[in-house]
Amino acid sequence: MSSETPHVTIHQLAEELSAEMFGGGDARAIDVTHDSRQVRDGTVFVAIKGSTVDGHRFIDEVARRGAVAIISEFYRPEAFEGAWIKVPDARAALAKAAAAINGYASHDLNLIGITGTNGKTTTTYLTFAFVEAAKRKAAMLTTVEYRIGDRTVPAIRTTPEASDTNRFLRNALDEQCTVAVMEASSQAIDLHRCDWLRFRVAVFTNLTRDHLDYHEAMEEYFDAKRKLFDGRLGERPGSSVINVDDEWGRKLADDLRAEGERVVTTSQLGEADLSASGIAVSLVRGTAFKLKTPAGVRSVTSPLVGRPHVYNILSATAAALEIGVDLDEILAGIETCVGAPGRFERVEHAGNFAVIVDYAHTDDALLNTLKTANELTTGQVITVFGCGGDRDKTKRAPMGEIAGRNSDVVIVTSDNPRNEDPMRIISEIERGLTVAGKPYEVIPDRREAIHRAVALATDDDVIIIAGKGHENYQVVGSDKFHFDDREAAREALAHRADS
Ligand SMILES: Nc1ncnc2c1ncn2[C@@H]1O[C@H](COP(=O)(O)OP(=O)(O)O)[C@@H](O)[C@H]1O
Ligand SMILES: [Mg+2]
Repeated sequence: MSSETPHVTIHQLAEELSAEMFGGGDARAIDVTHDSRQVRDGTVFVAIKGSTVDGHRFIDEVARRGAVAIISEFYRPEAFEGAWIKVPDARAALAKAAAAINGYASHDLNLIGITGTNGKTTTTYLTFAFVEAAKRKAAMLTTVEYRIGDRTVPAIRTTPEASDTNRFLRNALDEQCTVAVMEASSQAIDLHRCDWLRFRVAVFTNLTRDHLDYHEAMEEYFDAKRKLFDGRLGERPGSSVINVDDEWGRKLADDLRAEGERVVTTSQLGEADLSASGIAVSLVRGTAFKLKTPAGVRSVTSPLVGRPHVYNILSATAAALEIGVDLDEILAGIETCVGAPGRFERVEHAGNFAVIVDYAHTDDALLNTLKTANELTTGQVITVFGCGGDRDKTKRAPMGEIAGRNSDVVIVTSDNPRNEDPMRIISEIERGLTVAGKPYEVIPDRREAIHRAVALATDDDVIIIAGKGHENYQVVGSDKFHFDDREAAREALAHRADS
């Protein structure tokens, strides 16, 4: 932890929480966590009664590790000799304590929070890129990675708690970041992980849920997301960027405006503060459109493919403009940012065909990706994929069948065979391919398979390299080798250009 971190006393903490305190409160808290393994000297431990584990079981352990106080919904003086703060809701208290102990870091950053069903990660990457294009140091929290400037910070867990987020924001601030961009899923909002964060800008992308077709459940889902905007998390955002092509977005924008809040709307269907028109999507050239903003109108081309990404670009542009990034700097970011790594990521090259790296590694995802590829190309769809070893074997034949039915050429290869015989995995995929009845090739070496696909491509074709996305390794037996589909594709493209 940085020396710049402000430390509060347990007494001050109890005051911040408006909670009852037992025992001496003069000690200083240097950190807070609900995870007993993270407790060190000076840490405040929040005992949360979760659905599987009851944090109160670890009180002996955290005492041995040097916990300075316990926050809990109960008071059990016999369990712990140090200070004890009794609160009505331990999760909510964790969030407030984390904000307080980290000196309310979000107050000193331009924090941008992004919520919605789809597009959170991509919009986060875009916004981060726009801020970087303006030479401002930024931090980013996504489901893919945490980043401070150009340094990737290993994620502590896949769903960070308020304690992780606030500590991260503190570190970002200590490392001179002036902006932080984060995804805010509705689950994170529900579990108090975004409480007491002061968002300079909150972004609403969209709200859809296929399996929630009854209205009541949608209302609830909407209500969870709405909390990011309406002050129920403790703070109101400075402004709200809202996609008004979404019916829930329109409702949110109307409500917030009626409450006197600053709202910036985006649309590709009609009038809005920021809008896109004349959208032309090409797998080879990316997506071109006319971007209208309060700061000016520009013709732009993004390497990202598809109309959904135009929404993400509009949201990210609006958010960046709200924190004072210059439109022309944003444009530089639009022209270069490839979005979230490995998600329908185009590998740039001079040829007249497209190479896409995508993380689809289930039958469902593969079908979606191949459908998009088919919709956007007049040429052939060339698919390279494999299935992981020691993992779900039931998806192998279905993936083979889907690849066969939705591609013109299939090259079956390896994808982390682990302790299985790669040829056995491939033969299970082949069962599905046989059902589809399309010709296919088997090239177990993934690099060779990618080279073969690139060699086969002609004008207007699209090569889909599926399964790994942003992964940069291949696991064979118990060995983990460096392997990156994008690197292999670039190598193959260079080789093709030379010959
Ligand atoms: N604005 C959008 N609207 C609809 N679908 C989108 C949008 N942005 C991305 N997608 C699709 O949703 C999936 C997840 O995108 P991602 O940016 O990772 O969103 P999230 O973090 O919200 O899950 C991708 O397959 C992508 O093609
Ligand atoms: Mg995400």
